Amino acid sequence: MSNATHLSNGLIELENEPSQTLSFEETVRARRSFRSFLPTPVPNAQIKQVLEDAQYSPSNCNTQPWNTHIVSGEKIKELGRILTEQNEAENFTPDFSFDMECFYGAYSERRIEHGKTFYEAMGVARGDKIARHKAAAKNYTFYGAPHVALLFMPSFGDNVRVGGDIGMYGQTFLLSLTARGLGGIPQTAIGFFAQTIREYLGISDELKLMFAIAFGYPDFTAPVNSVRMGRVPVSESVTFHH
Ligand SMILES: Cc1cc2nc3c(=O)[nH]c(=O)nc-3n(C[C@H](O)[C@H](O)[C@H](O)COP(=O)(O)O)c2cc1C
Repeated sequence: MSNATHLSNGLIELENEPSQTLSFEETVRARRSFRSFLPTPVPNAQIKQVLEDAQYSPSNCNTQPWNTHIVSGEKIKELGRILTEQNEAENFTPDFSFDMECFYGAYSERRIEHGKTFYEAMGVARGDKIARHKAAAKNYTFYGAPHVALLFMPSFGDNVRVGGDIGMYGQTFLLSLTARGLGGIPQTAIGFFAQTIREYLGISDELKLMFAIAFGYPDFTAPVNSVRMGRVPVSESVTFHH
């Protein structure tokens, strides 16, 4: 068993690295998005185990469309500098659109609630636009993570099915990190600079960037990492038909 504390809201809090991989329930409920990491690199053997786990993700017709690029060491530092510059210059080159204004009704309310919780955790006062921009810009230094997995995919039709497959892969990757005492954060924000990243890493235009997962050892002492995003009850998401 691990050093897991079961919280009253059903979630699980880990105090430090588990001595063995977590159980399924522990893994699912302990996973969360970390936004501050220790600089310590993850040993290659452990990264390989996570990649082996993610490889078992399901996909449409077993096409396994994930093309993952892992960036670490000096390369991730340099990429962080490039993306920060491009972000300041607003030189966006996304492969896929992302329009938060599309969210409506309950989805829009959840997005607003998420923004409040996120900026509060980042120590940003309401209405402080400069601080807000700075907090969001931390995406581009990967929140201090020593590694990033860039989830590229081939483009097929309207890409909805492939996008679903990449989502499956991303969640398996995140759960594997959690089970092994690591942590990660999925980042759509990195996809806003798809072309810049392709050019930097020499990746073919045929591959499109869906999102990234920055990962490493979470800094459990960072206040931003204490944030727990809530969930609506199952009854609001599921309808039973008899
Ligand atoms: C595909 C995807 C992309 C995301 N992109 C970002 C991002 O660019 N930056 C960020 O800080 N969080 C990002 N998130 C994290 C979400 O905000 C987070 O998953 C959500 O608020 C629920 O919190 P939890 O992951 O801690 O349970 C993303 C999540 C997903 C699934």
